[in-house]
Amino acid sequence: MSSLRKNSQYETEINHKNSHLVILTFFVYNNLSLSKHKIGIIMSKTINGFSKLTKLEKIEWLASNFFNNDVKVKQILMQYWNSNPVLQDLHDDFIENTISNFYLPFGIAPNFVINGKDYTIPMAIEESSVVAAASLVAKFWSTRGGFKAKVISTVKVGQVHFMFNGDKLELENYFNSKKENLFKVTEAITQNMKKRGGGILDIELRDKTSELENYFQLHVTFETMDSMGANFINSCLEAIAKDFEKESIQIVMSILSNYVPECLVHAEVSCKVSALYAENSELFAQKFVQAIQIANVEPHRAVTHNKGIMNGVDAVVIATGNDFRAIEAGAHAYAAKDGQYKSLTNATIKNGVFKFWIEIPLALGTVGGLTKLHPLSKLSLKMLDNPSAKELMEIIAVAGLAQNFAALRALTTTGIQKGHMKMHLTNIIKQLGASDEEKAYLIDYFEHKTITHNAVVEAYNKLVGDS
Ligand code: MEV
Repeated sequence: MSSLRKNSQYETEINHKNSHLVILTFFVYNNLSLSKHKIGIIMSKTINGFSKLTKLEKIEWLASNFFNNDVKVKQILMQYWNSNPVLQDLHDDFIENTISNFYLPFGIAPNFVINGKDYTIPMAIEESSVVAAASLVAKFWSTRGGFKAKVISTVKVGQVHFMFNGDKLELENYFNSKKENLFKVTEAITQNMKKRGGGILDIELRDKTSELENYFQLHVTFETMDSMGANFINSCLEAIAKDFEKESIQIVMSILSNYVPECLVHAEVSCKVSALYAENSELFAQKFVQAIQIANVEPHRAVTHNKGIMNGVDAVVIATGNDFRAIEAGAHAYAAKDGQYKSLTNATIKNGVFKFWIEIPLALGTVGGLTKLHPLSKLSLKMLDNPSAKELMEIIAVAGLAQNFAALRALTTTGIQKGHMKMHLTNIIKQLGASDEEKAYLIDYFEHKTITHNAVVEAYNKLVGDS
C-alpha cells in the first residue's frame, strides 16, 4: 500500500468521521476496490496475510467477522485516529496491524524536590488516584527536605545459553583462548557505545550443569550509558554466540536479561518523627514501619504493597517511552531475591528520625527506542530537563517511593477507600451520563459522605427523579 493511498483513505474518513453514510459509502467503495481474493479473506474468522491489508480493510474484516458489521465499531476505532496524518502514521508504525490508538491519561505531578532540584513529573496512567497521590506527597516532602536519590550501579546483563556435553576443562580452555576474540567480533557494534563511555564490561563462562544437564552460559555484562540497550545487548550477544559456536557447543539462545540487580537506584526521605504530623506523629511512624514489616513477612501483602509502588514507577516509565514490562519483571524478581517476595521499600525510626527508602533495579533509557520518537515521551523528557538515564532512574525511584508513602499513609490512617472513591466518584458520575450541573451537585453532596457505587447511583436517580 502506498502512503499516498493510505493518506487519502485516511483523510476521507477523518473529514467525514461523523457521517455514517459517507463512511459506509466509503467502505462499499473500498471493498469494491479489493481483489476477489481480499473479499474472500474478509469473510472469514481466520485469515492469511492480514498484515498486508490496509488499515480500513483490517477494520472491515474485524467488523464483519466479529461485530456483525456494526457501524459503531468502525466509528469507535476511527474516532481515536489522530487528525494529523503524519502523527497517525508514526503511531501506526510502532506496531503491526494498528487499527486505532488506545489513549491513556497523561498527567503531571508538580512540586517534587529531588536532590535539591525541582521537578514536575509526567505520568501516563489510568488509575484515578495515582497522580493526585504523587502531587500530595511531593508537596508534603518538599517542605521536609525533599527526596534524596542515588544510583548505586548501572550494570546490565545478557547471556548466551548453550549446551556442551564434554570435558569441562576443555571448554574452559576453549573459552579462555576465544575470550579476546569474542570482544573483537562485537567491535562494529560496540564502537559508538564505547565512544559514549559504555560497551561490554566482561564475558564470563558459567557452569550451570548442577541445575540442568549440559547447560552452560556466557554471562556478559554491559554498560549502556543513556540507552536502555536492549538492541545493543542482543546484537552483541548474537555476534558472540556465532563466534563461540562449534560442533560440540550447541547454542540454545542469546538474549539480554531483564533481571538487573546491579542496575540499582536508591531513593529516600527522612525527617524528625515530630515533623511528620502535628498530632499522633509517633503512632503514625510506628504503624508505617509495621506496615512494611508486614509486607516483608507476608507475600500476599508484599505483592499489593509493591503494586502500589509500580503505580508510580510505571506511569513515569510509560510517559518517558520506556519498557514497563521489563521494569515490572525486573522489579518483582528483585523483590524475591532473598527467596521470599518482599517489600521494595523500607523504613526505620532511629533517634527520633523517620527514614523511608526504596531500592529498585531500573534499566532505563533516555535515548533510543521510543524515547525521542514519540512526541509525548520527548516532551516528558524535556519536562524533566532532559535527564541522563541515571537521573531518570532517580526520578522514577522517587515516583515509586512517593506512591508507597501515599498508600501506606492512607492505609494506616483513614483507609484507602476514602481517597480512592473520591477520585473514582467522577468516573461513576460520568458512567451515569450526568450533566455538568448534576456532576457539581453530586460532588458537593458526597463531600462528607461515604462514596459507594450504589450510593452514587441512588443519589443520581433521586436527583434526576426530583427534577
Ligand atoms: C492500588 O492501586 C495500590 C494500593 O493497593 C497499594 C497498597 O496497598 O499499598 C493502594
